[in-house]
Parts: sequence; structure tokens; C-alpha cells
Amino acid sequence: MEIRNAPDDVDLTDATLIVGMLSENEPAPGAEEAYANADPSLLDLAKFEGKMGQTLTLPHSEAKSVVFVGLGDEASYETIRSGMGNAVRVVKTERAVTNLDKIPVDGATRAVVEGAALGGYQFRVYKTEGEALSIETLELIECDETELGEALITTEATILARNWVNTPALDKAPEILAEGMREEAEAAGLTVEVWDQDRIVAEKLGALLGVAAGSDRPPRLVVIEYQPESAEAHLGLVGKGITFDSGGLSIKTAQYMEEMKDDMSGAAVVVAATTAIARLGLPVRVTTVVPLTDNAVGGKATRPGDVLRPVAGPTIEVLNTDAEGRLILADGLGVVRRYEPDLIIDVATLTGAAHVALGDKIAAVFGSDSEVASQVLAAASRAGEHFWELPLFKEYKKSIESDIADLKNISGGRYGGAITAALFLSSYVEDAKWAHLDIAGPARSRETAGEHVKGASGIGVRTLVELARAMAEPA
Ligand code: BES
Ligand code: ZN
Ligand code: ZN
Repeated sequence: MEIRNAPDDVDLTDATLIVGMLSENEPAPGAEEAYANADPSLLDLAKFEGKMGQTLTLPHSEAKSVVFVGLGDEASYETIRSGMGNAVRVVKTERAVTNLDKIPVDGATRAVVEGAALGGYQFRVYKTEGEALSIETLELIECDETELGEALITTEATILARNWVNTPALDKAPEILAEGMREEAEAAGLTVEVWDQDRIVAEKLGALLGVAAGSDRPPRLVVIEYQPESAEAHLGLVGKGITFDSGGLSIKTAQYMEEMKDDMSGAAVVVAATTAIARLGLPVRVTTVVPLTDNAVGGKATRPGDVLRPVAGPTIEVLNTDAEGRLILADGLGVVRRYEPDLIIDVATLTGAAHVALGDKIAAVFGSDSEVASQVLAAASRAGEHFWELPLFKEYKKSIESDIADLKNISGGRYGGAITAALFLSSYVEDAKWAHLDIAGPARSRETAGEHVKGASGIGVRTLVELARAMAEPA
């Protein structure tokens, strides 16, 4: 969908007008004029109440039709974004127009663009039947041009991440995905290095190699650098890139394996965010590292009880091959630390426990100190993504000490698994400023509503962009 500023003499004749409505059928502020040319009596007849999630399409005196979209009790950044997502899916014309004049909401343009672009997202690469959405162009009357430009960049990056995650594991072997990432990063003007298996062996990334051992598809490690001249701060990003998580020899049951093509969401998110940061020209240096591998069950697979040596930091006894994310992240963190960033953020679909703790819609954040966690939470709040802080509770660290190596990759107990996984990672960042984002729950949307579309969510992309923006403009 193309989203653009409407010309002064916008032509409504063949278009759908999108009008925000509050509950009790009040036109939302700014929507009065568009509302005036519809026939409001039909709203009552149709039992339209302006509730969030509701839409109603009616004839219009000037436009081809009007879509009334419920915003619930108030027009806010969140309700406009969500309402727009619902609206674009019911528009039946190629063009739609909406008026942002007089909407008394900060970020109204961004809300409309995010709602339309993300709510109108479809992944149709493998569909031979069924129809794409009708809407092709959305024109915005009285929008904020800067906000429009920025929101187009961040939503495009979110969609890039969604596309990578939605792609079946068959079509995203590490070498293929690495080349796709190279292509996208280079197109955004970034410097890219892709390490092949020989380089990974030469660099002694023993934990990544241990996970990759069970697969016939060789691993890759992608390093992306953004080095604007004016940068003072330096952000290091690491993303979990398991291209399929079968569990390895500690194999998953069929039900838990179903969604495991998603297990490279962290990698997709950090790479997509890096392209957006570069396109926005934010004056902050970024170094992004993504280890990519399958977690498979071939004859050479790592066995429970084997010990792996990551490039730096503690040795690891692998007691459960399904706790593989923390293994490849140990190496990813080791590599990013060589670049000495001021702040490291890793993003990973790391634990079912984070999903259990916070559900489908909230991601967990752990910070090396409370200031770092607050920084991430503030960025997430500006981005309109849901994160919640969990504690790096040091007393639990004893539970991941190994009898024969420095650490083991599971705690042995059933409880607190998101925390023990985060504590494991903390051993590989030592005293660096660092936050860990466990997106295992919300990496996938389980229903289509508002700006969410069933499938990959791209959560984290916009939070990382906001974080980079804050680092570029210290208070
Ligand atoms: N990729 C999974 C975590 C996951 C679960 C992501 C559900 C998305 C949705 C991870 O590699 C895993 O299997 N973790 C295990 C760890 C356990 C063996 C300590 C888990 O969470 O069960
Ligand atoms: Zn696993
Ligand atoms: Zn995994």
C-alpha cells in the first residue's frame, strides 16, 4: 500500500473516505466535516456504536463510500492506530482518503501510517488463491510530512522483519537468510560481513558450532555496521537467529515445534531496526551481530552432557539441546563486545517461560541495571510496543552452575525459566551496559486486530529505533 500526502484538490469521487467515530456515534475530533456529508441516520439503523473493532461502510454524497471506524471512548495514538488497521482491511476501493486536520492527538500522522501499513500487511508469497486487499493508496489530508516520512521507514522495517519471520524454514536456510540480510542492509547503505562456516571455526565460536552441528545446512554469522560521522554513542545489537528450532536431540513435541520457524525473530528484528536507523540517518553508531543456524537432529548433533566453548566467557555443559538460543547468543554477545559498544541489546524468542509469564502481547525486558531497563521501557512506550521488566535475580544464578563445566544451559527446575536464561546471558556481557529482550510470546500475533495481523509481529523494531533516537539525542 502506498501512503502519501493528499494533493490540495484531492479527488474523492472513486475513493473511500475513512472517518473515525467515538462510542455513542460521535465523530472523532477532526472527523466532523467528513461525517457531515454522510447520512448519520443509517449509523443507528446498522447498530454501529463506534466501538473499537467495529467498522461500517455506507454510501457517501461526495466519495464513493465512507468507512466509519470505531475508536472507542477516545481518539488517542493507540486507538487511531488500531482503528486505521481495522479500516484498511474493509475498504473496497483502490483509493482511500482520511483527514487528519484538527485531530488533537500527538503523533496522529504516525498512528494513521502505522495502523494502515501494519494492519494492511499481508504475507501472500505462497498463496495461489484468494484476494489481496483492495486498497492500494491511502491519501492523508493535512498530515505531518516529517512524521509521515519517518513512519514509512519504521513500518517498512517492521514489515521486512515480518516477511523474514513468516517465510518457511525451508526457504530461509542460514546461508540464504544471511544473503537476504546482506542485500537489505547494503540497500540501506550499511557495511555487511557474512562469516561462513570456515570463518566461524577460525573465530572459535564453539557454542554456535555446537548448535549447528546437527544440521546439514551450515551456520552463518552476519555483522552489520552503521557508522555515521556525527555519532557519539554506540549501540550494539544481537539477535537470536535459529532458522528452525526442532529442539535438537532434546526434541520438541509436534505442537511446540509448529511455530519454530519464528525462532529467528530476534535476528530479523535487530537487522530490520538497523536498516531503519540508517535510513532515518540517526547520529548513533550501530553494530549488529546475528548468529544464524538451524537447531536440528542429525548424526553429528550435540548431545545432552556435551560441553561447548563459546568464543569468550564461561564453558557450557549442554543438558538440554532445546535451550539453544542462549548458546548462540553467548557467541553473538562475545563478537559484539569486541566492538566495545556503550550499550548492548539482545533480542530473542528465548523462553516459553517468558510467554507463560507475560502472555501473547507483552515482551520481557531485563536490564544490567535499572537505568538500562528504564531506557528500554521508555523507548517501547514511545514506540507503542508492550514491554514489562523482569528481574535479573542473582540468587537464581546458582541454579545454572554445572558440575563439570562453568555453566549449564538449563536450571533443572520448572520455574523462573525466563530469569535463569537471562542470568545465563549476563555471564557473557560481564560489566557492559546491556538489556535482554525476550519476545517469545509476542513475536507472533495470534489474531488479526487493529495493526496486528495473524503471524509474525515484528515487535521490537520500533522500540530499538526509539532507543537509538534517544541515544542520539541525550537529554
Ligand atoms: N525457541 C524456544 C522458546 C520459544 C518457545 C519461543 C515458545 C517461542 C515460543 C527455545 O529455544 C526453547 O525451546 N526454550 C526452552 C528452554 C528450556 C529447555 C529450558 C523452553 O522455553 O521450553
Ligand atoms: Zn529451543
Ligand atoms: Zn529456540
